[in-house]
Amino acid sequence: MRGEQGQKWKNTVNINASSENKLKLSEYQQILAWYEQMGVDSAIGETPVNWFETENTIDQSLIRALTMHPATSTEKHRVAPAPAQKNSHFTQNQHPAENGQQQKTEISPSHTPAPQTTAPLAQPSLELAKKLASQCNSLNDLQQALTEFDGCGLKRTAKNLVFYRGAEQADIMIIGEAPGRDEDIVGKPFVGKAGQLLDRMLKSINLDEQTTHITNIVYWRPPGNRTPTSEEGHLCRPFLNRQVELVQPKMILLLGGAAAKQIFNTVTGITKLRGSWKPITYNSSTVPTIATLHPAYLLRTPIAKKMVWQDLQQLAQKREAG
Ligand code: URA
Repeated sequence: MRGEQGQKWKNTVNINASSENKLKLSEYQQILAWYEQMGVDSAIGETPVNWFETENTIDQSLIRALTMHPATSTEKHRVAPAPAQKNSHFTQNQHPAENGQQQKTEISPSHTPAPQTTAPLAQPSLELAKKLASQCNSLNDLQQALTEFDGCGLKRTAKNLVFYRGAEQADIMIIGEAPGRDEDIVGKPFVGKAGQLLDRMLKSINLDEQTTHITNIVYWRPPGNRTPTSEEGHLCRPFLNRQVELVQPKMILLLGGAAAKQIFNTVTGITKLRGSWKPITYNSSTVPTIATLHPAYLLRTPIAKKMVWQDLQQLAQKREAG
C-alpha cells in the first residue's frame, strides 16, 4: 500500500494514535468490516506493525509463516455444497453443515493449499526439535518441550499450542492435518465441526476419547487455515515421533492428504493413499498406519463418507483381530 492508500492504512491500524488522528466509531467499524472481508479473523499482536519499515528487523520465521499464505488461491479449492444425503454413514446428530445448510464458515484447515516453497529446511531448528523431543519421558515433558520450542514459524501466529486430546496411552492414534480456528482458541485438536464429525465416525466403530489419542502433524494453527508446508511438518515430526513412542498405539489412522503425505513421505494424493495399511517407523516404533479422507472434506462432500466407512471397517477389523 503506497501513497494516499498507505497513509490511510497507517491511520486505520494506529488505533492508539494521538487525538488528531483519532477516527470516529463508525470509521473503526468500517475498518473492522474491511478486515473481515479480507479474511482476517484473529489479531496476532497488541500493537500495529509497519511491515514496510520493519521488514529487516523482525523475526524471519514470522514473515515466512505469514507470507506463505496465498490469499488469492482459495476460490479454486472451494468445494460446492453437496446435496443432503439421506441414510449416509455417521448421520446421527447430523450437523447442519452436513446437509448443506452451513456453508459460510470454512471448516477445513486444508481450505488453502500449502504454498510451494523451495526454502531449505531450517536445520538448526530440526536438530533442536530432535534434541528436545528425545529428552521427553512423558506427554507432560513433550508438552513442556513444545512450549519451549520456537523453531516452527507457525507458533508465532497461533494463539495456543494444540497438543492432543483423548487417552494418554491408546491402541488407536489419530493424526490429522493442523489445528483450525476453534482448535487454536481451545488448545485441543478436533473440537470444531470437523471434530464433531470425527467423534461420530469413531462412535460408529465403538471408539471414543477413552480409546483413542488424537493429534495433528503440526501443533499450531497455520495462518488463514492454510495447509501446513512439508517444512513445518518436518519440524514438528521429531515431537510427533516421540509422541507415538509414548502413546504406544497398535495402529494409526491418518486423516486427509496432508497428514498422509507427511507420514508416508510421498507426494501421492489421498485418493490413492487411503485404505491400505503401511508399516511406518516413528523413531523406534513401527506401527501399521492407514489413511482416510479428512472429516472436513466429508462435511463438504458427504457422498465420500462411503469410502471413509470402508476404511473405518478396516480399522475396526484390525482392532478386533488384536
Ligand atoms: N482439522 C485437523 O486436521 N485438525 C484439527 O485439529 C482440526 C481440524
